[in-house]
Amino acid sequence: MEVIESVRRMQERAEALRAQGKTIALVPTMGYLHEAHLELMRIGRRHADTLIISIFVNPIQFGPTEDFERYPRDPEADLKKAESVGVDIVFMPGVEDMYPEGFQTTVSVRKLTKHLCGLSRPGHFDGVCTVVAKLFNITKPHIAVFGQKDYQQLAVISRMVMDLNMDIQIIGAPIIREPDGLAMSSRNAYLSEKERTSALSLKKSLDLAQEMFWQGERDAQKIRDEMVKLIQSYPDTEIDYVSICDPITLEEVSELGDGTLVALAVWIGRTRLIDNKVIEVQDTNS
Ligand code: PAF
Repeated sequence: MEVIESVRRMQERAEALRAQGKTIALVPTMGYLHEAHLELMRIGRRHADTLIISIFVNPIQFGPTEDFERYPRDPEADLKKAESVGVDIVFMPGVEDMYPEGFQTTVSVRKLTKHLCGLSRPGHFDGVCTVVAKLFNITKPHIAVFGQKDYQQLAVISRMVMDLNMDIQIIGAPIIREPDGLAMSSRNAYLSEKERTSALSLKKSLDLAQEMFWQGERDAQKIRDEMVKLIQSYPDTEIDYVSICDPITLEEVSELGDGTLVALAVWIGRTRLIDNKVIEVQDTNS
């Protein structure tokens, strides 16, 4: 496994791979890798000759009061994990190389970012799109894999790729959960034992929405009210949003149907967690 820190060197390496006719898969990450990241890498591995991952805690996607400084980092452990799933190249650039003096360009997806996390994290998706566009230009992938836990991020990046005619296939990978249902996230590392229990309220409220739908409830407001009640019954929880929305436009809907997206962000103490579920009709065969 190769580790490349320089932007220029990475571009040259990617160019050489392409010249040899190799296909490239990219899994962009901010490090502190866990099983869900490794699953994205396994998917990437299956889709291309060369698997590149990037590890870069991107300062421009964090707001001024957010957790950029304390975001967990463990590059040594990350390299071991990456190697264990057959990563070929780890691209780990420095901030100055990614954003040299004079940097002033932003990639912005206008409408999809007006909902969900975009409301409480202004500028976040501009930061994500800008760094992902740069990573695409640097690593020159044919495909890139992103997790569906960050549903809005996946939607925004897919839109950017479409709108800017980037010749890259975007693959969305299913959410990976701990055995008790908590969606895997690097930020779970912040949770105390007590908060860890409260964090289960996210998945439980999504299950409740699905269950109410199966029981015949279609009214989004009624389902949202019950989800809110459930979350608030756990200590140290503060809801950022509970959205019941169209899975393509992310606009709120008043009635649920097959494929409606239920997405939420909840503060558990000082940690903001997100999760989501796409509502399914009941499988009558099981
Ligand atoms: O999902 C993440 O870890 C980040 O938002 C990404 C896509 C690596 C961009 O910094």
